[in-house]
Amino acid sequence: MSKKVCSAPRASEITPEGVYQDRRRFLAAMGLGAGGFLMSPFLRAEDSPRIVGKPFGLRADDRVTPWEDVTSYNNFYEFGTDKSDPADYSGTLKPKPWTVKVDGLCDNPGQFQLEDFLKPHTIEDRIYRHRCVEAWSMVVPWRGIPLASLIKRAGPQSAAKYVEFTTLADPSQMRGIEQQFLNWPYTEGLRLDEAMHPLALLVTGVYGRDLPNQNGAPLRLIVPWKYGFKGAKSIVRIRFSEEQPKTAWNMAASSEYGFFANVNPAVDHPRWTQSKERRIGDFIKRATLPFNGYAEEVASLYDGMDLVKNF
Ligand code: MTE
Repeated sequence: MSKKVCSAPRASEITPEGVYQDRRRFLAAMGLGAGGFLMSPFLRAEDSPRIVGKPFGLRADDRVTPWEDVTSYNNFYEFGTDKSDPADYSGTLKPKPWTVKVDGLCDNPGQFQLEDFLKPHTIEDRIYRHRCVEAWSMVVPWRGIPLASLIKRAGPQSAAKYVEFTTLADPSQMRGIEQQFLNWPYTEGLRLDEAMHPLALLVTGVYGRDLPNQNGAPLRLIVPWKYGFKGAKSIVRIRFSEEQPKTAWNMAASSEYGFFANVNPAVDHPRWTQSKERRIGDFIKRATLPFNGYAEEVASLYDGMDLVKNF
């Protein structure tokens, strides 16, 4: 099988005209100044790109993770379980044309071509910390539409309490599907109020260009206060339901992967601690923050819940 080679985007490709008012600041914030990707400066609030939306809660020590790492160190079990498998083998995935089905308890269900599905919404750029349950993390400049914007358009009915995401499971495009690494198709879910939170993003791009296949082309979820496995890749269906959806990782190992999966340094994974993480590119580990550092924005969603039981 031929290997997919990923090239870094040129600076000119990641700065759409008219979107960024200050190109120099944008490039600096993206780590793409004079030194290109090697520079990766620390991001400060005043360096943040002028974008539609804002880079929520970036901290002084957050550096954008280089494109090479974001696109070569991945989990996407439909292509194999090694971190390099998605970049090596996802060239067979065909993200165009792509259809997304919206159904279940909503007033405006339908089957949409991706372009029509995205058209009514505003595409935004957001730089988020991205924390995997395996205790590595990145800082990634995602591009997408607020999930809330899609949900409002779908019109969930009053009985709808959850949103389920189902992803592609096509053995002709995904070599890992022949093996039962997980129950295919991969599914994920959110409570409706979590899904409506302004931080939750349906992602279509990274580093200002369309998502590479290994990152979940053409449509994936990012919920930055939750472990990365909530970020379902290559979504084909969004369904509103009254019951809590079954999720792929919970079905695979319910004692290790709960439905809520909020980043929580106080609740260890049965096989390793969650109190620290290794930011890709760093040598020394850093402390993991409750809700991945987004507690101020999201902690109230869980008022009154026992987050040790509801991990
Ligand atoms: N989505 C699908 N369809 N299949 C997967 O195996 N892995 C999840 C999530 N989404 C996965 C998936 C896990 S475990 C993580 S950590 C993130 O994708 C990784 O996203 P990234 O490779 O873009 O960093």
